[in-house]
Amino acid sequence: MVRKLGVLVGGPLFLLIVLISFAPGEEDIWDVYYNILKAKKADLPPEYGDIIMKSKIESMKKAGVQPVIFPHWFHRIRFKCKVCHEDIFIMKKGANDINMKKIMEGQFCGKCHNGVIAWEPIYCDRCHRYDSKKAQREQYEALKILPRDKLGFIDWAKAAKEGLIKPKGKIYPTDQEAIPEQPFDLDVVIVAKADFMKDVVFPHWIHTFWLGCANCHPKIFIPSAGANPISMVEIWQGKWCGRCHGKVAFPTFDCTRCHVKPKEKKKEN
Ligand code: HEC
Ligand code: HEC
Ligand code: HEC
Ligand code: HEC
Ligand code: HEC
Ligand code: HEC
Repeated sequence: MVRKLGVLVGGPLFLLIVLISFAPGEEDIWDVYYNILKAKKADLPPEYGDIIMKSKIESMKKAGVQPVIFPHWFHRIRFKCKVCHEDIFIMKKGANDINMKKIMEGQFCGKCHNGVIAWEPIYCDRCHRYDSKKAQREQYEALKILPRDKLGFIDWAKAAKEGLIKPKGKIYPTDQEAIPEQPFDLDVVIVAKADFMKDVVFPHWIHTFWLGCANCHPKIFIPSAGANPISMVEIWQGKWCGRCHGKVAFPTFDCTRCHVKPKEKKKEN
């Protein structure tokens, strides 16, 4: 893992430097990259998608409980993203005003942690178990059977395509399927504004396996090829593709998974 991290951070660093030198006169761009790299190296979670929830830390301290860890991996094995986002949770850390009263009344985590779909919210320590001093790795044993990408992270796209996991699209079998189950098979080429990078292919199929159209359109992307002023710098800052990639989906350091299509030869030569 240590060696992989070296490749993960070291390799792209060169390209980042190249990229930065082309970035349009933003003074603090170095700081942005430095902080991202530093943060990624230090807190790269054992697997992507643990969210530490501690916006109500003062009342947690009073009640004598730890901050909450919400493990995405544990839930996405069982449910697609669209079950929770955004009917139950806004897709942004800290954006949901959650408290125990609401959970006990069946909102937020209580939609499932109600004794029917999952255990009731009486076992405080199962959720309130974040300890900054302790590695949280033991719990990841269960992930060993899933396929890995070349950087050593779980390849969730492959796991889904090969049917190794079968996440549900709704909570109760009798629920109406609000969002179509059938993924939308359309690849969109996004031309990379740099000659040294291959173009990006955005695959709708795998995204709409997990997500609904409304998760992205029109909030993150206008649904029209070329209509969005996407840039790599902003992706690294957590916008556009970076809303998910590097947080819950595979990291943005894995350049070759998005930049896959060789540039078309210019005709005028
Ligand atoms: C069981 C419910 C559930 C499922 C399923 C789920 N999420 Fe989440 N997600 C959450 C919760 C809870 C949060 C944290 C919200 C908060 O802090 O208020 C969150 C937060 C996020 C965030 C914000 C992270 C940040 O740092 O701001 C992203 C992005 C996200 N989820 C993407 C996904 C994707 C992609 C999937 C599917 C692969 C997914 N989620 C599946 C419950 C879920
Ligand atoms: C869409 C349904 C759903 C929602 C919403 C949901 N969970 Fe879960 N959760 C589950 C199921 C199902 C399990 C597995 C229960 C079992 O194994 O019996 C689970 C298990 C867990 C586990 C156990 C993980 C482990 O390592 O054993 C934790 C922790 C957890 N949930 C936290 C949360 C928190 C915190 C929230 C709200 C922020 C939440 N869940 C919202 C369905 C949900
Ligand atoms: C299913 C997961 C889950 C379980 C079980 C759970 N909590 Fe929570 N709890 C949360 C989440 C999520 C929050 C909101 C975190 C945030 O946004 O800061 C929260 C917030 C809190 C807060 C601060 C807000 C408030 O309501 O005052 C306290 C105190 C708290 N929990 C105590 C408890 C106690 C005591 C238990 C056991 C009886 C418990 N929790 C069980 C998920 C859980
Ligand atoms: C994960 C985010 C995401 C989801 C989910 C998503 N899309 Fe898109 N969609 C995109 C992106 C990115 C583009 C390309 C935008 C660009 O080129 O600037 C796009 C482009 C499109 C286009 C324009 C294609 C063209 O050639 O002009 C259509 C139509 C579209 N999406 C429909 C849908 C529909 C219907 C769904 C749901 C079944 C959906 N999208 C779900 C991200 C998403
Ligand atoms: C709303 C969340 C979200 C956004 C926004 C998003 N993705 Fe994804 N993407 C996912 C998830 C979830 C997967 C499944 C794999 C994973 O979780 O690692 C995925 C997978 C992929 C794959 C892998 C396909 C495969 O079969 O290996 C590519 C390529 C990809 N995304 C490119 C993009 C690009 C390019 C953008 C921006 C134009 C983008 N994504 C925006 C959530 C998102
Ligand atoms: C999640 C998908 C994804 C990943 C991973 C990714 N890129 Fe990009 N990249 C994009 C998209 C989308 C664009 C926007 C295309 C455009 O308009 O230039 C882009 C654009 C670029 C550009 C064009 C100039 C600019 O700033 O927009 C460069 C250079 C670039 N990426 C380099 C990289 C490098 C280096 C890596 C790996 C360290 C990487 N990318 C990883 C999706 C990705």
